[in-house]
Amino acid sequence: MSPSGVSGAGGVSGARLRLGILLSGRGSNFLAIAKNIREGRLAGVEIGVVISNVEGAAGIAAARELGLTTAVHVSKGRKRAEHDAEMLATLRAHNVDLVILAGYMRLLSPEFIAAYHNRILNIHPSLLPAFPGLDAQQQAFDYGVKVAGCTVHFVDEHLDHGTIILQRVIEVLDGDDAHSLAERILAEEHIAYSEAIARVASGDYAMEGRRFVKRA
Ligand code: GRF
Repeated sequence: MSPSGVSGAGGVSGARLRLGILLSGRGSNFLAIAKNIREGRLAGVEIGVVISNVEGAAGIAAARELGLTTAVHVSKGRKRAEHDAEMLATLRAHNVDLVILAGYMRLLSPEFIAAYHNRILNIHPSLLPAFPGLDAQQQAFDYGVKVAGCTVHFVDEHLDHGTIILQRVIEVLDGDDAHSLAERILAEEHIAYSEAIARVASGDYAMEGRRFVKRA
């Protein structure tokens, strides 16, 4: 195991790194990852299961169409700890190594985060630590920043806070509105998430304090 807690996909066993995707909505980040896997751009990685906490999420319908294994664990009205325990059981049943939050719009319980310590990734549509939380693109636009972007990071017990894996940056154009900015950030997200997964899967990177850096 590397210090990030994830075995390199090209490790001794040659076993593939199995992803568990968690989503709540349209799932465009999930679809970008699935496409990169299908087209051979994410070697040594496969999707074990796609889980939605929302019945009828577009992302879960898309996963079914792709023939992937899916599960729906509706979270509405459920206690977080109980709901997360169910998701954990599903992830384990499908031998998931790495959990990918792809528009999963619910906080995870401390138990869940501990169970997959340093093995949960999230993508956030801002250059963290700026603009954590909801509507990050609108927050950035309203603030008047000149550059914006997205961040892929490990998940810890604080919101949008864990060690950063990578960021992609775009310029904010004078003609932008919050919507056009969000669209261009999303295009970067679709590149960033697979790149980040590849780095984690490679085993070539290690966590040094808050820094995720290539091993010397
Ligand atoms: C993305 O903007 C992501 O950064 C944020 O939620 C959104 C999910 O979009 N965490 P999609 O469901 O992947 O299309």
